[in-house]
Amino acid sequence: MARLKDRVAIVTGAAQGLGRAIALKLGAEGARLALLDMQAEAVAETAALVKAAGGEAVAWSGDVTDEATVTDLFGRIHAHYGQVDVLVNNVGGSRNMKIWEMTAEVWDFTIRLNLRSAFLCTRAVLPGMMARKSGNIICLSSGAKEGTPWTAEDTGAPAYSTCKAGIHGFIRDLCWELSPYGIRANAVAPGPIGTTKNAPLFASQEERLVHPPSRMVPMVRLGQPHEIADAVCFLASDESSYITGVTLDVAGGR
Ligand SMILES: NC(=O)c1ccc[n+]([C@@H]2O[C@H](COP(=O)([O-])OP(=O)(O)OC[C@H]3O[C@@H](n4cnc5c(N)ncnc54)[C@H](O)[C@@H]3O)[C@@H](O)[C@H]2O)c1
Repeated sequence: MARLKDRVAIVTGAAQGLGRAIALKLGAEGARLALLDMQAEAVAETAALVKAAGGEAVAWSGDVTDEATVTDLFGRIHAHYGQVDVLVNNVGGSRNMKIWEMTAEVWDFTIRLNLRSAFLCTRAVLPGMMARKSGNIICLSSGAKEGTPWTAEDTGAPAYSTCKAGIHGFIRDLCWELSPYGIRANAVAPGPIGTTKNAPLFASQEERLVHPPSRMVPMVRLGQPHEIADAVCFLASDESSYITGVTLDVAGGR
């Protein structure tokens, strides 16, 4: 199977976790990958893993919340591949705090990390996509768009939840603005996923909390990174050709 044969796809935050899983999946489906991350060595390692599996990938390092850096990186990607067919805005995360303790600095950091990155990277791919009347943008939202019981009980995450709801508004707007140019825009909203980074936190929450992930997820298990990558691949492929403006929950029923 090569559902993305010869499509050029950018994955941001591809050094680890879901970004790495998405890169491996899209690479296995024939996409020619541009992988971005702040962690130079680790993103190069993801590119090496894609190539070892028979795919094509080039890695670049930089901060995708910085406007000049994004202009530079996307210029290099265009120079290398000539076009971009798929953009996966995967970079995101948070520094969690209860709402009554949250500093303006942490609030701004989280908004910048999740929303400014998606905005800058999307804007950077649009001239080429609009000229060719073809393109596909996929953003990572989260079950946090509805608030997350276990995070609220534990650390709090008001800025993060706000951002992930904001991603839904972002792709809803994009679908109206970009459909005339043949460009689709969707999001995937993962539930709790057992990435190397997050699995230990979820395990400790099972012990400590009244509302741990296991009680709040109907399927009573964590998701696996490949289950998110499969959903991103579906949205990146022609199998979803009549789907735009949708945030797809991949969250075990949460
Ligand atoms: N893992 C989960 O359970 C889960 C659940 C719901 C949503 N998500 C979302 O999925 C996405 C990926 O999650 P993850 O758990 O794999 O995250 P992660 O923190 O493990 O990985 C994020 C990657 O992005 C990179 N990065 C961070 N800031 C960057 C920047 N400014 N510029 C370039 N690269 C940067 C990091 O170096 C890292 O490699 C995020 O948007 C996250 O909010 C994750």
